[in-house]
Amino acid sequence: MPKVTIDDITIDVPEGTTILQAARMIGGEVVPPAMCYYSKLKTSGGYCRTCIVKVEQGSAKDPRPIPKPVASCRTNVMDGMVVRNITSPEVLEARAGVVEFLLINHPLDCPICDQAGECDLQDLSYGHGDEFSRYEFKRREFEKIDIGSKVQLHMTRCILCYRCVKVADQLTDGRVHGVINRGDVSEISTYIENVIENDFSGNVIDVCPVGALTDKTFRFKSRVWYTKPVDAHRDCKHCCGEVRLWYKGDEVLRVTTRRDQFGEVKDTTTGKPGWICNECRFDKKETKDWIIEGLAHINPHSVISANHYESLKALKATVSRQLKAAPHGTKVTLGNGALDPNNQPGTQK
Ligand code: SF4
Ligand code: FES
Repeated sequence: MPKVTIDDITIDVPEGTTILQAARMIGGEVVPPAMCYYSKLKTSGGYCRTCIVKVEQGSAKDPRPIPKPVASCRTNVMDGMVVRNITSPEVLEARAGVVEFLLINHPLDCPICDQAGECDLQDLSYGHGDEFSRYEFKRREFEKIDIGSKVQLHMTRCILCYRCVKVADQLTDGRVHGVINRGDVSEISTYIENVIENDFSGNVIDVCPVGALTDKTFRFKSRVWYTKPVDAHRDCKHCCGEVRLWYKGDEVLRVTTRRDQFGEVKDTTTGKPGWICNECRFDKKETKDWIIEGLAHINPHSVISANHYESLKALKATVSRQLKAAPHGTKVTLGNGALDPNNQPGTQK
């Protein structure tokens, strides 16, 4: 098994593992942010560059460094590779540049955006961006297009991560939307104003890392941090039926997939990705439709956790603690189940 060292923590990983996957196996702060990679969607990744890292040593056989930052979601680990993420000032500076690029055309309309509070771009810019932008030109503008009664498209917010296109390709029968045009005029669109009406099309809402695709039935109903997430299930003939209900008082305001600690759709109890169908998402908004399992676990870093009911667990290990315990090149012995990406504290974005 190849051995890779990321931010001074060494781990053995299976052949074919990418740097990002290896970092996720270690967990904690060494995990690079990812805006386009989505482990449950084939061929995702390689579009946004937020996951860049520095490869200080290519491999044990050829220790030369890779001369420029690489996308960790698309670069496989080699035996003896040494990688730097948050311990490299160059990576942090380059990533701040990537964030600046992503925000060039993104409107600053968080106060009226339904995604606020669970937006990956918001989190990314807080965690990795600079407080200013050097961009002084006009932002992109688009004609509004209607893509159906359930999903709202705000093209100005799109960062062209392609996740929704992969969902449509891999989950629905008969994709009707994709990216048209190229360069700075690229946009998400449907074929000649077609609408997206597919059993599983609502999943595009959950994979969109920004507020470009939002739930029309939840629009402007509440800020997410005023809602209470509860896990529930039902016997559904289309999907796994394992969902998260978002309550305000006694009212179910929206239904979504459950998320894991990386913000991706969580695996079901049978070990498959927990995508849900449109019937569960849009048509079952009464408590009586569901068997309630209990309160959803919330990531203590999430804004949703503010003033919440669950006692919050401390993050398992920070890098500084790990660094103290593991000087450069030392092999860290991980506890039982530590390599299971679904077995980390905090599950809800
Ligand atoms: S609409 Fe959302 S999911 Fe689709 S490409 Fe744009 S940012 Fe990505
Ligand atoms: S997450 Fe790797 S390039 Fe987007």
